[in-house]
Amino acid sequence: MSSSRHALINVLMLLALLLVVALVSATRVRAQFPGQQPKVEGPWMDKTLSPDKRADLVISQMTLDEKISLLHGLGSRMFESPGSQPPTRSLGGAGYIPGIPRLGIPDLQMADAAVGVRHGSVFGRYSTALPSGASEASSWDLKVAHEYGALIGQELRDQGFNMSLGGGIDLIREPRNGRIFEYKGEDPILAGKLVGEEMKAEQEQGVIGDIKHYALNDQENGRSFVNVKIDKRAMRESDLLAFEIGVKNSGAGAVMCSYNLVNGDYACENSYLLHDVLKKDFGFQGFVLSDWGATHSTVKAAMAGLDLEMPGDDFFGDALQKAVESGEVPTSRLDDMVHRILRSEFAVGLFDEQLGRRVPDIFKGFAVARSVAEQGSVLLKNTHGQLPLSASRLRSITVIGSHADVGVLSGGGSAQVDPPGGNAVPPPPPAAGAPRTDDRNPVWFPSSPLKAIRAKATNAKVEYNAGIDPVAAANLARGSDIAIVFVNQPASEGRDEPSLSLPDNQDALVSAVAAANPHTIVVLETGGPVTMPWVDSVSAVLEAWYPGIKGAEAIASILFGDVNPSGKLPMTFPRSEADLPHPQLADQPAPGPDDLKPMSPGEPFQTNTRKFDIDDNEGPKVGYKWYDAEGKEPLFPFGYGLSYASFSYSHIEVKLGQSPAVTFTVKNTSVRAGAEIAEAYVELPQAAGEPFKRLVAWDKVQLAPGEARTVTLALDPHYLSIFDADKDEWELVPGDYKVLVGGSSRETPLSMTFSQ
Ligand code: BGC
Repeated sequence: MSSSRHALINVLMLLALLLVVALVSATRVRAQFPGQQPKVEGPWMDKTLSPDKRADLVISQMTLDEKISLLHGLGSRMFESPGSQPPTRSLGGAGYIPGIPRLGIPDLQMADAAVGVRHGSVFGRYSTALPSGASEASSWDLKVAHEYGALIGQELRDQGFNMSLGGGIDLIREPRNGRIFEYKGEDPILAGKLVGEEMKAEQEQGVIGDIKHYALNDQENGRSFVNVKIDKRAMRESDLLAFEIGVKNSGAGAVMCSYNLVNGDYACENSYLLHDVLKKDFGFQGFVLSDWGATHSTVKAAMAGLDLEMPGDDFFGDALQKAVESGEVPTSRLDDMVHRILRSEFAVGLFDEQLGRRVPDIFKGFAVARSVAEQGSVLLKNTHGQLPLSASRLRSITVIGSHADVGVLSGGGSAQVDPPGGNAVPPPPPAAGAPRTDDRNPVWFPSSPLKAIRAKATNAKVEYNAGIDPVAAANLARGSDIAIVFVNQPASEGRDEPSLSLPDNQDALVSAVAAANPHTIVVLETGGPVTMPWVDSVSAVLEAWYPGIKGAEAIASILFGDVNPSGKLPMTFPRSEADLPHPQLADQPAPGPDDLKPMSPGEPFQTNTRKFDIDDNEGPKVGYKWYDAEGKEPLFPFGYGLSYASFSYSHIEVKLGQSPAVTFTVKNTSVRAGAEIAEAYVELPQAAGEPFKRLVAWDKVQLAPGEARTVTLALDPHYLSIFDADKDEWELVPGDYKVLVGGSSRETPLSMTFSQ
């Protein structure tokens, strides 16, 4: 070989080597920790392009195997069985989908985050244990919802997660539902706006927001078997309206379809719900993921609109690949599924920003938790100005019940957050062989009401009685200036409450203490409504819900008047279960081993042989609408809540035209500053066939003593419309509309009628 030929070969080899090095470094995964995404070059990395365009550019580079790999997860089953480890790179959240490093597609790291990021203790991470969703909803305040969501989003990012599984919004049709504490009440507009704001705030932190459980998963017992029967108009004007508002207001990247069936089809393979309503009518551009184990088919589910099977690959792994290869699922639909996921990732910046871990701002979390609990607690009764308490005058206080010496209650299941310091009332050790204690056992956050009360009542002797024995508790209470009885109702995902009565003889406890002390104050720590047979015998009642890690301080601040309560009920408290649309919990097979069984790798999720129907024949009459239409008197109505201030309403006016609105004046008629949530309801013309009013707008008005303010609330035509199922569209019924304004659904001193 001539020397020049030799030199040429050397040069060519060198060039080839350089090319390989260049290619490798272009796609090389930089130093990483789990969850950190690789940086690659590619036209889709151009941030000036739209998320849709960028998604299409990536898809054009993907193989079939790669596409399929994004459409199912490797989730909690991987680490919930004894001794198993999460897959490499997974952060151990409830859901994990490995990314594709060569294309820069990040790992999708999902964590449950309804009231804070879940499962901290399993991996030694910290997150703020926030008050329940019902507490947030009782603030009726979009600023509170924003703070709540922003904190969750930030703490997800702090831990390296890039997708939230929070955002529960199922309406309270069944007040014994074990998950009410996660949700935002019974009204679709209130719930939709709050969850919309919360998800918007989470997405602003650079995580994909998820709204769940779509749809009508309104009870837990038999949730995988229950077939909800409801007509289109009723669902569009109730539960689906909440999702519509939530999705549209937030731009959430994901919606989780639910376990139950709706009109005969599982929610995760229900083309009316997923395709016709969510994707077509609501214009939802993100992806639909199944609840954990709620996928039941491949072709039917994919064609109905399910995009992602979670947490495993029983239907959207090899089976989906085969269905694509055989043409049963067209490539265009496959690409649409992938597009929706990638689009949501681009939209919140997952391709553009490295996930970095941070130390969570614990102090900020405490402040947000306390502020939500202060704004979300609802004062239900306050006879003769029993509250606020006077720290200087009180000499003796008896605190009773609910482990108030050590903690406040929280809700169980996938919304359980591990608090710093652990469960203040440690449960019995897990059964032999069980990976850990049942998630549904009550967890008490270490925030002691007794200590918080002692810190305020510095001149008083404050004694505690556990409340197990009503007689002993009453005897102690008899001798003190006041008695504060804490009562609780533990609730959890995976089961409904057997009744609306407080468990464990607590009604007898309150009655005994109230008989012994005329100044008895009851503090409720409940997931949702409870009945109160003793209500007439106590002087004050405060609903604190599950008040979060700073719950004790928030409760004490309200009891002693440092905070003037302003929360209002986002759900009706019935007098008795006989008044419910379903006085008996819907008929069903007894909860069986399949209802929420421990999961093990490779095992298919719930088998579904025990279907049963619920006729949602209350239709759109959810919550207060039922009580209005049926002429039933609630114990405490929707929208109700007291303040230490008092307010008057006057001067109503309705303005029609381009932007219809109602204007009125609210005045603080007391000597205390306070906030009033002013509510506007509308009764539709008779021809609409809806014999109840709807909440259409509200505002929280902060008023100094004696101050009056003019409030203007927009009357959104959508919220005044009915859904015509035949025409498949919303319409305004011509006729007379009556606007009612006031401080609760049952107290509307102002009204005015206008014609449309
Ligand atoms: C719950 C979901 C949750 C999921 C993952 C399911 O059992 O219904 O709300 O996000 O588990 O933990």
